[in-house]
Amino acid sequence: MSAEVRPSETPASELSFARALIISGGPSSVYEAGSPTIDPAILNLPNTALLGICYGQQLMAHLGGGCVEKGTKGEYGLAVAHIDPQIPLFDKLPESQQVWMSHRDLVAATPPGFTVTASTPTCPIAGMADPTRQLYAVQFHPEVVHTLNGRQILDNFLFGVAHCEKDWNPASQLSDLEEQIRQTAAGRNVFFFVSGGVDSTVAYTLCLRALGPERVWGTYVDTGLMREGETEFVESIFRSLGATHFHVEHAEERFLTALEHSVEPEQKRHIIGQKFVEVQESILSSGHFLDGEWILGQGTIYPDTIESGGSSKADLIKTHHNRVAGIQLLIDAGRIIEPLSSFYKDEVRAIGRLLGLPDEFLERHPFPGPGLAIRCLCAAKPEPLEKIEGEGWLVPVRSVGVQGDSRSYRPVIAFEGMPDHDVATEVINRVAQVNRAIAIAGSRLPLAEMSVHAATLTKERLARLRAADSIVRRISHDSGFDRQVWQFPVVLIPLGSADRPDSIVLRPIHSVDGMTAQSVTMDKPLLDCIVKELLGLEGIAAVCYDLTHKPPATIEWE
Ligand code: XMP
Repeated sequence: MSAEVRPSETPASELSFARALIISGGPSSVYEAGSPTIDPAILNLPNTALLGICYGQQLMAHLGGGCVEKGTKGEYGLAVAHIDPQIPLFDKLPESQQVWMSHRDLVAATPPGFTVTASTPTCPIAGMADPTRQLYAVQFHPEVVHTLNGRQILDNFLFGVAHCEKDWNPASQLSDLEEQIRQTAAGRNVFFFVSGGVDSTVAYTLCLRALGPERVWGTYVDTGLMREGETEFVESIFRSLGATHFHVEHAEERFLTALEHSVEPEQKRHIIGQKFVEVQESILSSGHFLDGEWILGQGTIYPDTIESGGSSKADLIKTHHNRVAGIQLLIDAGRIIEPLSSFYKDEVRAIGRLLGLPDEFLERHPFPGPGLAIRCLCAAKPEPLEKIEGEGWLVPVRSVGVQGDSRSYRPVIAFEGMPDHDVATEVINRVAQVNRAIAIAGSRLPLAEMSVHAATLTKERLARLRAADSIVRRISHDSGFDRQVWQFPVVLIPLGSADRPDSIVLRPIHSVDGMTAQSVTMDKPLLDCIVKELLGLEGIAAVCYDLTHKPPATIEWE
């Protein structure tokens, strides 16, 4: 059986074939004009089970004749839910469990026929159901890892309630995939821009197997914004795959010169996007890859196709890369091959494993396209810190955050001690002008003697960040900590003194898909070991620890 993502406005008549429908969450309020809605007839499809999540639950309540109340403050983060283990959705679950909440409005009264199936101290209707009609809903998010039994809840819904079958196996599709590649290529050669990421590498490897090394070419653009040893690592992977036409385009100077004076995150992203476009255009035309005997290979996976095509309702949080005109030309002409476009990330990893790619590579943490540029924070002018009595220090380094689905860009609050995450979350909720909280894990001088300096993306600062990132990666790899987290950004901020103008922020997080995330605690001896080495680096004043979940902060600082 397959899974598809459809726009919310799809009529019920086009969905009656589905055994199970999930109505996802979102930042809107059911009372806002223009907020997404569903065809109410979906609630009455006779052979389709329904699960509403977060905003999905609110929509079901609103359309089914219940009542949704406008929230003022919202609830973001972990909560303990008491559930009714008698209903099939919560089969095999204990009565009390950790769930992840991210909502403002809440359901105040269930629709006729529904009963309350879950509650938390701040959300009395955290779940509701009408099992006779196979209608279920939860206010919390079963799809994120912080809802500890979320996977079981989704399994119960799909296989217990809706009787779906587990027969989707990428392994059985390998030879079909290769055959499809040969058919799409139809005698032409395939050219890839590879990033060293899992998706483009697996797509490339599939093409290599299907067409052989003479017909599959790849170029990797070195932007000068990559981590230490990255270009060499990517090169070694491609050589070991048997790629003979693999080329590294050294574009470091072009990127760094263009970024010399920029401070604003969106401006940095825009410039990087523009440079990518220029460099890719010149490679496409000078290599004659726009000629008829070439088609473009891409590592697009299923969720990418949804993000770019179907999310008319998603608010802009960050700008992603511009599309290269030459690439658009190839797409418009249908000269494109995307062998992974119907697969999810875990399936892409499974295919990669079948193709013999090493686990160490397939399990790499995600790394953003604009690279260290979004982890090297800049500042337009010098600014002092401000003491907020009883709370901490207001550090005027602005970073990006997200609440609901809207972007914020605010200073950060710093604590001299190491409070736990609940305290940090509470302070962020109270101190309205910040979206992020950090603890000082170690420093060369007290915060009272530090200030924020004017800073841009210089080679010197990038080298400092690269050295710090390399130390953190080595220690977290050797200690096994990297396998306990989903991603571990290391960030450079212009906080310090004249001699030591920068500080490092450690940002280890748990996540499932990067959409929400939880700041992770690190054991003190391990943290001390990292701090000691980082404070030994030239120019580093302090090592900070980011205590903020997403939301309200994003994973990257920008
Ligand atoms: P944020 O900072 O939005 O990050 O919470 C969510 C996830 O997305 C990654 N990220 C990117 N990945 N190109 C990418 O390929 C980008 O421009 C980009 N920006 C953020 C980020 O590392 C995290 O995993």
